[in-house]
Amino acid sequence: MTQNTTGGQDPARRGSPAGEATGTAEGQAPAIDRGTDAADGPAVPTRPGPDAAGPRAAAADAGTDAVTCAGLAYAFGETTAVDGLELSVRDGEVFGLLGPNGAGKTTAIRCITTLLPVPAGMVRVFGHDATRERMAVRRLLGYVPQQLSADSGLTGRENVALFARVFDVSRRERAARVGQALAAVDLTDAADRLAKTYSGGMVRRLELAQALVSAPRLLILDEPTIGLDPIARTSVWEHINAVRAATGMTVLVTTHYMDEADQYCDRVALMHRGRVRALGTPDELRTGLGERRGTAKNGELPTLEDVFRDIAGSGLDDQSGDFSDVRSTRRTASRVG
Ligand SMILES: Nc1ncnc2c1ncn2[C@@H]1O[C@H](COP(=O)(O)OP(=O)(O)OP(=O)(O)O)[C@@H](O)[C@H]1O
Ligand SMILES: [Mg+2]
Repeated sequence: MTQNTTGGQDPARRGSPAGEATGTAEGQAPAIDRGTDAADGPAVPTRPGPDAAGPRAAAADAGTDAVTCAGLAYAFGETTAVDGLELSVRDGEVFGLLGPNGAGKTTAIRCITTLLPVPAGMVRVFGHDATRERMAVRRLLGYVPQQLSADSGLTGRENVALFARVFDVSRRERAARVGQALAAVDLTDAADRLAKTYSGGMVRRLELAQALVSAPRLLILDEPTIGLDPIARTSVWEHINAVRAATGMTVLVTTHYMDEADQYCDRVALMHRGRVRALGTPDELRTGLGERRGTAKNGELPTLEDVFRDIAGSGLDDQSGDFSDVRSTRRTASRVG
């Protein structure tokens, strides 16, 4: 098992917001709140139809943004990771949070998932306050963290079943839901093999199944395709999009792959040094930079990577490495022993 694997731990500590229910900071023991609003939740990961989020939820917050951050700030000691973040993710969209290493993306996401507290500012998920209504927020989320969240010593099915238990999927429904989540990511045939025999792309799809088993209204993916080959990357996105088409879930994703952001995100925010520096559709951002540079009228639109470099400036090269460095630093395949 590699150093990044988390074999033997409760899945609650391996990327499940629900499992870290009572912890307000990293490292606290998981404890699952099975409070009164712990209803069965959305029925199946792939349930089609406009009411996929459940009629109760749909009625309660129709028209509400999936995520709202206002003045969100978070510091690790002297290091300011998030510095007054303003962000709105609309219900149903695929929203890309981009930015160089250390921009604060993961920290912001961990505040949104309630894995970190919100020391300053406000975070809401479908109208629920991340500080005061933590469990309500967690029940709406599926989260694929940047670090490995699958246990190499368990089979794919066992991994997903653990998450189903943590997310309060009822015992009666559990086997069916686990099967559906595995099928949604095309892992039915490999479901009973140990995860350590999976390729990097399969591991990432397994983690996707873990996050989907609770039929989340908001799926949060922190670098879901890092280190994967182009075919595996496409496959991960195809599975995300298929589930999204079937359920209408919102997707908040971070990625260092500008081509993916361009292709799959409805809107993107470029984050740098803890704040959003640019926001729009990929087209809007490219056109905006083209106009500023005066190249748009020649039909030479900049790429999203040009936009990124324009905003992140020299700090990108000095402090963070470039995209190819990032791509080569972590290999999902090697993270499973
Ligand atoms: N647990 C921690 N303890 C101390 N500092 C941290 C911790 N986690 C993050 N930081 C710091 O907070 C800042 C933001 O880090 P964060 O991981 O949120 O960035 P990121 O945008 O997700 O980067 P990457 O693209 O590399 O994943 C960085 O300066 C980082 O060093
Ligand atoms: Mg990160």
